[in-house]
Amino acid sequence: MLPASILLCFLALGEQSFDTLTTVTLRRLVNSISAYVPGTTGTSSLLVDATVLFIGCAVAAAGLSAVFVRIEIPVRKRLLEDIESSLFSYALWHAPCYFEQRLPGEIAQQIRNAAQGASGLFVVLTYFGMRFLAMVVSAALVFSTSIPALNLIALLWTLIFLAGSYYITRACSDLSKEFAAKGGRVIGRMVDSLRNITIVRSFGRQAFEQSYLRRYINEERTSQATLRTQFYRLYVFQLAGKIVLSTLVVGFSLYALLEGRTDVGSVVMLIALAGLISSLLQAISDRMYDVFDNFGVVSQALSYLVVRHAIGDVPGADPLLPAEASVNFQNVTFRYPSGSFVLDNFNLDIKPQEKVGIVGVSGSGKSTVMRLLKREYEPTIGSILIGNRDISRCTLSSLAHAIVEVPQQVRLFNRSIRENIAYGQPDASNAEIWRAAEDASCLDFIAQRADGIGTEVGEDGVLLSGGERQRISIARAILKNAPILLLDEATSSLDPISEACVQRSLTRLMEGKSVIAIAHRLSTLRQMDRIVVMAAGRIVEEGSHAQLLNRGQYYRRLWEGQSDLQVPAGTSGRT
Ligand SMILES: Nc1ncnc2c1ncn2[C@@H]1O[C@H](COP(=O)(O)OP(=O)(O)OP(=O)(O)O)[C@@H](O)[C@H]1O
Ligand SMILES: [Mg+2]
Repeated sequence: MLPASILLCFLALGEQSFDTLTTVTLRRLVNSISAYVPGTTGTSSLLVDATVLFIGCAVAAAGLSAVFVRIEIPVRKRLLEDIESSLFSYALWHAPCYFEQRLPGEIAQQIRNAAQGASGLFVVLTYFGMRFLAMVVSAALVFSTSIPALNLIALLWTLIFLAGSYYITRACSDLSKEFAAKGGRVIGRMVDSLRNITIVRSFGRQAFEQSYLRRYINEERTSQATLRTQFYRLYVFQLAGKIVLSTLVVGFSLYALLEGRTDVGSVVMLIALAGLISSLLQAISDRMYDVFDNFGVVSQALSYLVVRHAIGDVPGADPLLPAEASVNFQNVTFRYPSGSFVLDNFNLDIKPQEKVGIVGVSGSGKSTVMRLLKREYEPTIGSILIGNRDISRCTLSSLAHAIVEVPQQVRLFNRSIRENIAYGQPDASNAEIWRAAEDASCLDFIAQRADGIGTEVGEDGVLLSGGERQRISIARAILKNAPILLLDEATSSLDPISEACVQRSLTRLMEGKSVIAIAHRLSTLRQMDRIVVMAAGRIVEEGSHAQLLNRGQYYRRLWEGQSDLQVPAGTSGRT
């Protein structure tokens, strides 16, 4: 990357130097034409030399420009790839709370904006920065050897032109930032509506979604129109600047000619050089807008994306290697960043390979317990241990390897069945993938598909039934083979036949693992070693299925279908 970037700088410097040299050779060409006397070999050879030199410089400038563009293409491509993949990787390490406040489509759009803006900035700054440098040095040399006063005029004009362009384009940059933000919002809204298309259809709210989006499109277009008006002001300013410089240079050089201080060739050269300067500065002024625009887009995207990871590896974090996968919640109190307290001094000890069921009314904090164990959030007070190691001091990737989950809401990639299963263990052999599919009872529905295990499952697995999706997620979990298994309502959305089938697969999956299973259908937890009953963020009762039924308190009431569990203050029904 670095050698290619340095080469780009030299090419831009060379191109501008040859452009200025072309105007110098123009002087010689014009003077040779003036001095040409037909039939004299001396004047005609001078004319030929001047013509060859003029064309040579013009061709060299064009050639360097072509080489610059050729080299710029792979450099820009590489930059784009590097920035886009780094930002994507950074986004993948954000904790769930980051995604709760942002739309996935908006995040993707910001990653693209940042990559395109930054790579564009690099090329523009390299090209025009170097050309400007070469122009300043070469024009100063030319003016000094012809009419030195033009140095001061060109310098003043350049400063005023750049300052004016800066002033106008600065406003463009703010407007462009606003335009980019509104564009991102439109994309985000579209993705939100399209992701929920089934809800839109079932409520018949297509027209509502359209008018909802139209409001955002309208705001975006208004801000675009304001931006364009500002851009037009810049164009008028550039035209006026060009006329001023040309007039000044023509005036000064003609005056010097009339006074006999210069020749015709020099006048033509100076006018051509003035044209070159104003063209370059107009291009820079145009790019100034792009530069501010890109700066705006890149800084907005970075402030959106490069937010500190809410949960990450602490300095000196060690990998978690749970030989003994015990799990301990120690005095855990927790509230969501945007909510009230959900867990209240929660304590739970799970021995290695013990199978614990959690029951409780909706909202009592069961899923939150699992989220804390996966470190999607950190406890507000207290700590969580796996194998007697505090998980907040272990690396996130090793924690992910220690836990496998089968959730109620299965998430599948819009890829093939094979790819979704193999996600549990990327280097799994073909035989291992098939064995996992068999253990998770996937073979029957795979056989029914024309493409078999290579069948694409569609967005979030829409091309499969709920039970089939669930079985793929179990196969994926089987392949992962982590020592701790979390089941959060893994079978609750299935019909009794699918549930029985999935339950058999789950029983196989549970073998040899420490298990935490949440279920509203209490019958599915009968095989658990222990069941804990949660209410209002605390454990209010625990024991085996039979013990809890006999006790006749919370569990019994849940079993009998009562959901009005009230927890008296200070109650703890733990045995
Ligand atoms: N991301 C969040 N931000 C704020 N509050 C949340 C968030 N997720 C859950 N809650 C709140 O935390 C409480 C416990 O939620 P949790 O999902 O743990 O309940 P649950 O026992 O699993 O319920 P269910 O049986 O319905 O799944 C609820 O009051 C819920 O509204
Ligand atoms: Mg839940």
